[in-house]
Amino acid sequence: MTRISFVNGNFIDHDKAFVHIEDRGFQFADGAYEVILYSNNKLIDDKPHINRLFRSLGEINIKHQLSYEYIIKNIVDLFNKNNLSDGFVYMQVTRGATNRVPFCPKELDVTVTMTVSQTKTYTHEEFINGLSLVTMDDIRWHRCDIKTTGLLASTLCNQKAKDLGFDDALFVRNQVITEATYSNFFVIDNDNNLVTKPSDNNILEGITRNRIIAIAKENKFNVIEKNFDLSFALSAQEAFLTSSTLGIRPVSKINNFAIGRENSRNISLKLSSLYKEFCKN
Ligand code: PDD
Repeated sequence: MTRISFVNGNFIDHDKAFVHIEDRGFQFADGAYEVILYSNNKLIDDKPHINRLFRSLGEINIKHQLSYEYIIKNIVDLFNKNNLSDGFVYMQVTRGATNRVPFCPKELDVTVTMTVSQTKTYTHEEFINGLSLVTMDDIRWHRCDIKTTGLLASTLCNQKAKDLGFDDALFVRNQVITEATYSNFFVIDNDNNLVTKPSDNNILEGITRNRIIAIAKENKFNVIEKNFDLSFALSAQEAFLTSSTLGIRPVSKINNFAIGRENSRNISLKLSSLYKEFCKN
């Protein structure tokens, strides 16, 4: 079946889906994006995702006429045209195309693109084995709260982690653990508290992060949002990452130190199954 993508209101054969050579997204990473999970013909937490997209666009002064209804209708149409009932949508909005100038031209028409892809599945064993992280200096800019397409620092660090034999990098800024390259970071301390960094300009406030916090509170977990360092993380009984693409994924190792007792994933498993339940309903 032909893969279909979305470019500025048109559904196009994926191989022919192009934007202009002078698009500001291409030249300056001058845009914002979202990735949203689609589960059983339903978008998960679409409202907070679209609100975050609008916030990101506002923070970088990109004016647009996009409405929540227009975006959702086109995302659902795109999944249908690709015959997918589960997967992810990647949606990007850039300032538009114009002659290359080092400021932000007003009155451009934004470029809106979307692609959908299948969910990557993982086995129970892979879940239990967990992911390995290596700490790295957080070399990203100081507005990580904006979901811009400027991800070179993240991709370079992710690749460096892989080259070193780890799954991902865990960023540290001024001794504080911020997040991984494409996900938020949680630990479960030895008093069973769920601990994560408060949202500020140094992390993306993940929609999955917020959902997990809400689910944990509903289920009588004590949630603490505070800054913490590597030694605190290493003393945890469990740790995990969250994102729309990962859901909850346990972390088994940081810098070759094992987290918690071997294969103890009780709380991660419990929260993961509560999150899966939430996605089903
Ligand atoms: N990344 N932190 C960063 C830096 C991210 O890029 C992401 C998401 C998250 C988690 O956000 P959410 O729970 O809303 O997906 C945290 C997406 C999945 C990506 O870039 O592919």
